[in-house]
Amino acid sequence: MTTFEHCSLRDIAQSVVGQVVFNRTLPGEHGLLRLRVGKVARRVMPGHFVQVICDPGLTLPRPFSLMDADAEKGTVDLFYRVVGVGTGIMASWKGGEEIRLLMPLGRPFMWPKAKVNVLLIAGGAGLAPVHFLARRLVERKFAPVMAWGIETESPMMTIEARMDGFPLDVAFVDSPEALAALDAVGVSSRLASMVATPGRFHGYVTDLAEQYLIHSPEEVRRRTVVYACGPTPMLQAVHRLVERFGLEGQVSLEERMACGFGVCAACVAPVRTETGWTYRKICTDGPVFPIADIAWEKY
Ligand SMILES: Cc1cc2nc3c(=O)[nH]c(=O)nc-3n(C[C@H](O)[C@H](O)[C@H](O)COP(=O)(O)OP(=O)(O)OC[C@H]3O[C@@H](n4cnc5c(N)ncnc54)[C@H](O)[C@@H]3O)c2cc1C
Ligand code: FES
Repeated sequence: MTTFEHCSLRDIAQSVVGQVVFNRTLPGEHGLLRLRVGKVARRVMPGHFVQVICDPGLTLPRPFSLMDADAEKGTVDLFYRVVGVGTGIMASWKGGEEIRLLMPLGRPFMWPKAKVNVLLIAGGAGLAPVHFLARRLVERKFAPVMAWGIETESPMMTIEARMDGFPLDVAFVDSPEALAALDAVGVSSRLASMVATPGRFHGYVTDLAEQYLIHSPEEVRRRTVVYACGPTPMLQAVHRLVERFGLEGQVSLEERMACGFGVCAACVAPVRTETGWTYRKICTDGPVFPIADIAWEKY
């Protein structure tokens, strides 16, 4: 079965000076950064990432997936979690500051063919590329549903979830929290957390996705494709899930990187070949891969 349109080719990355439009501090040590980057915003697609030079004193740039882009206004959004030196510097940026970045990088997600049902699964800051994909899928007349696992207070505004999209099953009655920004464009979403939190599904985000699949009508389940981004153990669980239900999917891998454009081999992932497996560079062969192509057992 070929569920996806053919693989998008890598674009040619360029060095860009982005001007900070705003940099919002969000709960759970997160931030939302909007940069004015000009015409290059027209070329970006969900799954593309950028390399941000957080400080000239840091040897390496830091990779971030795009959370959104506005071709008209020439802006791109990054959603980041402060985890160390580079993201700590990012959090200090103010409106008007100029930031150097390289973009667009990597291979974006492949579009699904018509008539599939799309299930999006995100973990933590892995929300960024999946959120971008959700919005662009809506423009293409798909009606994706999203499961997001987050352990902190939600950095994104949440509202009482719409009840369509997810099956109206008892499993979801106690988990009505949904992402406001996605709900506004018609994407049904639910949040999951390992810490019992009112309004959220209690468990792994993949448990929530499993519940969704179990409670979906057979006709919907059969034509579901999965897109995911998050920590590697979560993606391994997503792989087990799609195997169990006989589905296809794509994942965006967010491993550590150095150069970001294929010259240092610091970012490899084990990928299946006809005779076994080999390493591929996430920055140029990915970060998006068909989920079945990754040799998950080699991680
Ligand atoms: C293609 C790609 C897309 C990404 N998109 C996003 C995104 O949209 N939002 C976001 O918040 N982060 C994203 N990341 C992760 C982000 O690049 C790192 O969090 C960031 O580089 C950390 O920089 P730092 O200087 O603050 O941390 P450092 O000081 O370098 O490290 C601090 C801690 O973070 C850990 N760390 C560093 N990089 C990673 C990583 N890639 N994965 C897991 N742990 C890491 C280190 O092991 C260390 O424990 C992405 C990574 C890749 C490869
Ligand atoms: S980060 Fe250098 S080759 Fe991928």
